[in-house]
Parts: sequence; structure tokens; C-alpha cells
Amino acid sequence: MRSFVVIGQKATASDDFLMDDLPGTSGRLDVLLRCVRAATLYSHGLRRDVVVYLVLFGGPRAPRILRFDGKARFLRPDERSLATLARKMLATRADADARGFVEFRAGIAVASGGLSAVLADLRGASLYVLEEGAPDLRTERSLAHGDAAFFIGDHTGFDEATRTQLAEAHARAIGAGPVSLHAEDVVTIVSNELDRREALSGRDESVQKRNPGLT
Ligand SMILES: C[S@@+](CC[C@H](N)C(=O)[O-])C[C@H]1O[C@@H](n2cnc3c(N)ncnc32)[C@H](O)[C@@H]1O
Repeated sequence: MRSFVVIGQKATASDDFLMDDLPGTSGRLDVLLRCVRAATLYSHGLRRDVVVYLVLFGGPRAPRILRFDGKARFLRPDERSLATLARKMLATRADADARGFVEFRAGIAVASGGLSAVLADLRGASLYVLEEGAPDLRTERSLAHGDAAFFIGDHTGFDEATRTQLAEAHARAIGAGPVSLHAEDVVTIVSNELDRREALSGRDESVQKRNPGLT
């Protein structure tokens, strides 16, 4: 299983944002929603082996988490549809007095809580934090084995409390190349690296057959 955890330092945890001005009124929830698209959807398909967590630290109901996984049937690639779905999820009060994640629809859940709740949900996955300047993920041998979770910052990066918590959880820093990228592009690069490794290791024979020269 692959998990992506995107930290929204100001992304709103309530539904009071304007659909027609998502970047200006939601604490840049749009940045996080583009990561959902990049992590879960490929051309004409939904990845079954992916979970995405959006950790929302903005507004009066923070912190809250939105979780999307491969059982979600209602994910569309355009940002407006994803924002509409997020707004409906954020409007619920079902998570207010609940412990852990509350399923909103198949494959889509919401929880009250921050990074600790995500770490508890990840249950034993290897943790990686995407940091500019860190050793390149292409040279990270451990990536090929088992469940892995990747932590990515929003347009402002990570705050110190998040960095400390991830370090205490023994997350390993990895880089995605020499250029400072948008968060969703980092998701794509990590996904592509994992796709290649899975194809090479024979776990995905259809990819291997279509790309015999893959290295
Ligand atoms: C737009 S960047 C944040 C830039 C922000 N100004 C900063 O100083 O962190 C969003 C996130 O993408 C990831 N990221 C961007 N470029 C990266 C790279 N070359 N290698 C690894 N992670 C990267 C990091 O997790 C970063 O927090």
C-alpha cells in the first residue's frame, strides 16, 4: 500500500469557503486537492493501492483529516468536483465526537485530529518525508519493500512542529530532484518511481509487457 500525507498548514477544516475562489478563501485547499488527483487517478482509472490523507490545520474546526482510498467511487479528476466533495465532507459533524475515522462514503472518511491520528492509522508503514535537498528517492533502496507513506508539505512547506513529530516517528528524508516543485508534482514523481520499481520487480506484469525496455 502507498500512502500520501499532505500537510495543509492553513487549509481550512470547515466548509466555509467559496467554490469560485478556492485558492483565496480555503487556505489553499486547492493545493491539497490536486495531490488527491495526482495520487489516486491515472488515465481512465483509479489506483486501488493508494491512500491519501489531507491534514487540515486551518480555521475553527482544525485539526481535521480527510482520507481517500482506492474504494472511492466518486473521485473525478477536476479540481471543482474534488472541492465540492471536500466541502460536503467538511460539513459533516459525524467526526466531532467520534474516535478515529468516520466513513462518509465508500473509500472516503473524515476524522478530527492531526498528524498523530494519521500516524496511528498508518500502522507500521515505512515513513518518508519529502524534503528539498534530501538524498534522491531514486537511490533509496528501502522504497521497494512493503507499505510506505510519504509526507509532503503545502505551498509553505512544513512547520517546525510537523518536522519534529516526523523525526520522532523516524521518517526518513528523501528528495525528488534538484528543483523546488509543486506538491502534486512531487506526488507524481513518487508514484512514477514506485510504478517503475513494481514493474521491474514483476509485481505488475502488464506494465512490464507493455514496456520491455523499462529500466
Ligand atoms: C511547493 S513545496 C514547498 C516550498 C516551500 N517554499 C518550502 O520552503 O518548503 C511543497 C512541498 O513539496 C515537497 N517538495 C517540493 N520540491 C521537492 C523536492 N525537490 N524534493 C523533495 N520534496 C519536494 C516538499 O514536501 C514541500 O514541502
